[in-house]
Amino acid sequence: MRYTVPASFLLASASIAADASPNAAEVSQMVWPEGLTEESMCQGGLCENQDMPYERIAASQPGYQWNDAGGYCGSWATQRAVLSKGAWISQQQVRDATSPCGGNDNEILSCNIDEAWTNLKLDYDGFDFESQPIPQTDAYLSWLKGHLVKGDAVAWMILWSGQTYPIYDLTPPAGMYGHVEPVIGIQSNHPLNDTKVYDDDVILHYTDGGVNTVHRQASTIAGTWEGEGEKADCGDYDYCISNPWGFGWAVQGFNDEKDY
Ligand SMILES: *[C@@H]1O[C@H](CO)[C@@H](O)[C@H](O)[C@H]1NC(C)=O
Repeated sequence: MRYTVPASFLLASASIAADASPNAAEVSQMVWPEGLTEESMCQGGLCENQDMPYERIAASQPGYQWNDAGGYCGSWATQRAVLSKGAWISQQQVRDATSPCGGNDNEILSCNIDEAWTNLKLDYDGFDFESQPIPQTDAYLSWLKGHLVKGDAVAWMILWSGQTYPIYDLTPPAGMYGHVEPVIGIQSNHPLNDTKVYDDDVILHYTDGGVNTVHRQASTIAGTWEGEGEKADCGDYDYCISNPWGFGWAVQGFNDEKDY
């Protein structure tokens, strides 16, 4: 399904932001595109459980993000990822742990998530989108698989197909995403000690807007984008990972002297 964000929706969401500038209606934001639901993301059987011989799925739960103030997707994805390691953090606390970097108040973006996760005393590993050579798709998928097979949940930042990037007039790679979700597992036809990413490896993630788990084949995940002010194209899907950059933060545990 191809997706275009209607101008009326951007106007409506811009009016929510108290400090919206007069042309904020044209600024692409970190909100769920109108009409896009978890149901549409599940189309094509993507939310049906698949029987595959090898899998690792973190103990976690899907659910619904808070939708005000730009949408708390980054906070919710953080909360759910960290819950898989045993701690519950309020979505507000995630924002309170960092500083603004271009979104609604302290909305979690690539430019302030490290500050949040550091202040929340998480032991984590972020994919190095700032220094890895581009395009990063292959390196990103290897990094992602490496964490998922260890049972680490990841907060990833994705593009909506048809939305213009970067969001909030940020400078890429900042702003090259429209949503943040928890990625909670992997399924494969190959033993999980094999670090190669296979085309038919399946990545499991939540949407932040329902109780399903989406199953997406690794080979379909990368989208295309032609440059600043252009729309992302995710082919047959509503969303994709960024190309040329990849965004992900894997929670490994807590920065504490004791292991839990
Ligand atoms: C994975 O583990 C299996 C069983 O222990 C072993 O036979 C195989 O050689 C391992 N594969 C890799 C790539 O390490």
